[in-house]
Formats: sequence, structure tokens, C-alpha cells
Amino acid sequence: MINHRLPLLSIFVGLVFFASFHAEATASLRSSIVPGAIWPDDRGHHIQAHGGGILKLDDTYYWFGEDRGGERGGKKAIERKVACYASKDLMNWEFRRQVIRTGPPESGLGVPFVLERPKVFHNARTGKFVMYVHLDDKAYKLARVGVYVSDTVDGDYTFVRSFRPLNEESRDIGQFVDDDGSAYLIFEARPTNGFFIARLSDDYLDVAEKVCFVRTRLEGGALVKYDGLYYMIGSWMSGWAPNNNQYATAKTLAGPWSDFQDIAPPETKTYGSQSTLMLKVVGTKKTSVIFMGDIWSPADHQDGRYLWMPLEIGKGRLWLPEPREWSIDVKTGETRVVTPK
Ligand code: DGJ
Repeated sequence: MINHRLPLLSIFVGLVFFASFHAEATASLRSSIVPGAIWPDDRGHHIQAHGGGILKLDDTYYWFGEDRGGERGGKKAIERKVACYASKDLMNWEFRRQVIRTGPPESGLGVPFVLERPKVFHNARTGKFVMYVHLDDKAYKLARVGVYVSDTVDGDYTFVRSFRPLNEESRDIGQFVDDDGSAYLIFEARPTNGFFIARLSDDYLDVAEKVCFVRTRLEGGALVKYDGLYYMIGSWMSGWAPNNNQYATAKTLAGPWSDFQDIAPPETKTYGSQSTLMLKVVGTKKTSVIFMGDIWSPADHQDGRYLWMPLEIGKGRLWLPEPREWSIDVKTGETRVVTPK
């Protein structure tokens, strides 16, 4: 005789199994960011996105950065990798893939070579994803940008060319997209004792024009527009060692820029980090600006950490508060410090 209770029992067991699996998956979700800590991705691996940049498409954030996995000290590296991660909440990151995995893309670079600070822009006109990187030889003498292109955000980025923007030496680069959609590259040019803000060409494959030259010896440049004012941050040049990062403000990108000031108590050396980007999160209740910095680990780059922290910003003042565990609601834009239990 057929036992009619069996299907019911198996549905019940299935539901219990699903519920416990779901609970486990949910439990492993991260609900905060801990500055300076190991930051595991969805596979449990420490995120490899050093010197990174962020691109937001619809409701997804994409984090691109130097993947230094398996590359002790970087000294013997004969290939360079850029990883791409995706997140809808900025706290949980799914590893997509290595979108660049390359040996030196042109002669003159030799090995080891340098590919640093990748920044991806999405060009609405061409539909292409355009990545800028700092491309260099091991002595950092070439000082060029490299341009790579992909048809999809996390596809294979293919090398287009390298050049010196505005015919100037270019080392650290930063990205900025203004509220009107115009895209800018920030690059440090050592011989000029300063750095440039330059508008990208319509297809983003070139640097079209100088918007501003700022005569201050800063690298790791980043920009944000907040409440009608532009804020620029950068670090002094001290190799991989941290220093007291600076900020200035201007009413237009072309300047004039105010004097530079510390973004944090100078003795903390920006809490051991170096600027790479400021991420603006526009929510239904609040606009938050997140400082994204790198805590480099030059003896073992893959262990480099990230210092992400909401900035105190407004009325011409920018301040990086002491790093604490915090969380964000990207829908409302609200951030909150997590009080230890
Ligand atoms: C500081 C830069 O910001 C980094 O990206 C890297 O180029 C190191 N210098 C190399 O010393």
C-alpha cells in the first residue's frame, strides 16, 4: 500500500533543510566593515583590490584593484593582475574574476614591471568599459598610463595603448566622474611638482584637455563633489609608507584650490593608510562620502588591508574620523558606527 504521508514528510524535511541552509548562508553575510582587518570575499579569500577604484552600474558596485595574490613582495612578479568584485551593499563582495592577467603589454617594460591603481570608467556613448592603469618599468621611469577596454564590466580587458597624458610623466592615477557625467583622470607628474586634473576624450580612450594643474607634491589623488563644493585629497610621497594625507577645496575643478590641510591627526599618518578614492553614496535620506585608503604591506602585498571609513564632510571641511567598525545602508545612504557589545 502507498504511504500518502511520505511526500508530505519529504516536503517537510526539504523545507527544514532549505531553512537551515538559508539561515547559514544569511549568517555568513557581513553586516559591517572593519577598517584594517582581513576582508574576506564570498569565497573566504582576502579581497585583492589594492589601489582600487569603484564603478557603480544600476544597483551594483564594482570594485577593481591590484590583485597581488601569490606575489610575495611584488619583486619577482612577471605578470600583473587586476581583480573585479561586485557588491550591492558595499560590505559583501563577490569575486567576479581577474579581468587583467598579463605580462608586460609592450616592449621597454621588461620584467618585473608595474601595473598599479586600476580605475574603470563606463562610456555611455560607446558602451565600452575603459580601464586606466599606471604602467611602468620596475624603476618607475616610464611613467605612463595604460588603457584597456572591455565590452562587459567584468570581461577580459584588452590592451589598447599606453601614453603620457598631456605629454607629462604620470604615476599615481585617480578617477572622478562629475555630476554631469564628465569623466576625469587625476595624475601625478613629479617633474612639475604637482598633479593634473584632465578631462577624458568623448570615447574615454584619450586625455582631451587639462582642466587644472595643482602645484602640490601629492599622489594618490581623489576627488568628490559634495554640496556644490569640490574636495580633493592626496598623500605626500613616501613610497609605501603612510603619511599625513591632505585635502583642499574649490568651487570649480579648474580652481583656485584652497591651501591643503591634514585630513586626520598628522601623528596617525592617516591611520596608517594612503588615499585611493572617495566614494559618494547618494541615498534617500543622506549622502555619505567614504574614504577608501590602502594600508600597504610592501613585504607581502597580498596582505595589504583597506581603510574604508565615512568622512565628516561639508561646509569646506573634510575629516577622517578614527577608524571604527561601521555599517552602511546604501539605499538610505546612512552610515552607523557599530558599538562593540
Ligand atoms: C606610492 C604609490 O601611491 C603607490 O601606488 C606605489 O606606486 C608606491 N608609491 C611605490 O613605491
